[in-house]
Amino acid sequence: MDKNNIDGGWLNLTRISLPVKVLFTGYLIVIGVGLMIAGLQILLTHGMADGKFGISVKDIVYSYYGNREGSKLERALNGSMKQYASPEERAILIEWVRKGAPDDEYETKVKPIIQNNCAKCHGVIPSIPDLTKKEVLKELAKVDTGATIGQLTRLSHIHLFGMAFIFMLLGFIFSFAVGINKVLKSVLIFTPFAFQLIDITAWWLTKIWPNFAYFVIIGGFGYFTASALMIIISLYQMWIMKPRDENAWRS
Ligand code: HEC
Repeated sequence: MDKNNIDGGWLNLTRISLPVKVLFTGYLIVIGVGLMIAGLQILLTHGMADGKFGISVKDIVYSYYGNREGSKLERALNGSMKQYASPEERAILIEWVRKGAPDDEYETKVKPIIQNNCAKCHGVIPSIPDLTKKEVLKELAKVDTGATIGQLTRLSHIHLFGMAFIFMLLGFIFSFAVGINKVLKSVLIFTPFAFQLIDITAWWLTKIWPNFAYFVIIGGFGYFTASALMIIISLYQMWIMKPRDENAWRS
């Protein structure tokens, strides 16, 4: 058999048979949508950390390193939650925060203010902290040191395992693309793995040194772009490009 003419062979995205094409396409569309939703989620969680929409270095620093100038509670009372308590009530709460949230003042001074002013939302709306719980309130009264080691460990391993699977299959499909320089193709296949490692390493480093927040953004942007390119090229070759007799594994 002539090795250079694998007519109908499936190791070439432009010539694969319909069922395999449909299988690959289904997978690519689902992870494409998944990546976009992940991006949206990042905008809505980290993106709002500095109170403004859109991702910025400050957001990343606040999420991982924290805003160590004070507690979330004090910041909220001077910021977005200012309108919900009178100046006197706010002064009492802020004083309590600065004293280190002592237990003996909680029942008499703090609890009534929270019940009257904050409980109608914080305690009812599930996505925001339940301030009627003493532990929750005390946690928000601590200096904000960002993500905890526990949270980082959990997120890191979920991301590493989950993303490795996604990139493995994506890279596998893309490796059957034709007409792309072998080295370039290899670089593109390796890029998401590399940037994933950069991203997650940068989370941990940002927890210690806030300047590493830039690498979190570079890492995330890097694997997002590389994945998007591979998805688009693969879909294009399967559905639009004219069939080519070429062994994809040679290119
Ligand atoms: C009308 C509903 C409402 C009331 C009343 C309200 N809050 Fe909030 N609060 C929210 C919402 C919604 C958010 C999340 C969005 C945001 O941060 O602006 C929030 C966020 C916060 C946060 C930030 C939580 C975090 O994890 O970053 C703190 C702290 C807070 N509120 C404290 C208070 C306190 C203290 C009061 C009472 C003086 C209060 N809020 C009253 C709706 C409310």
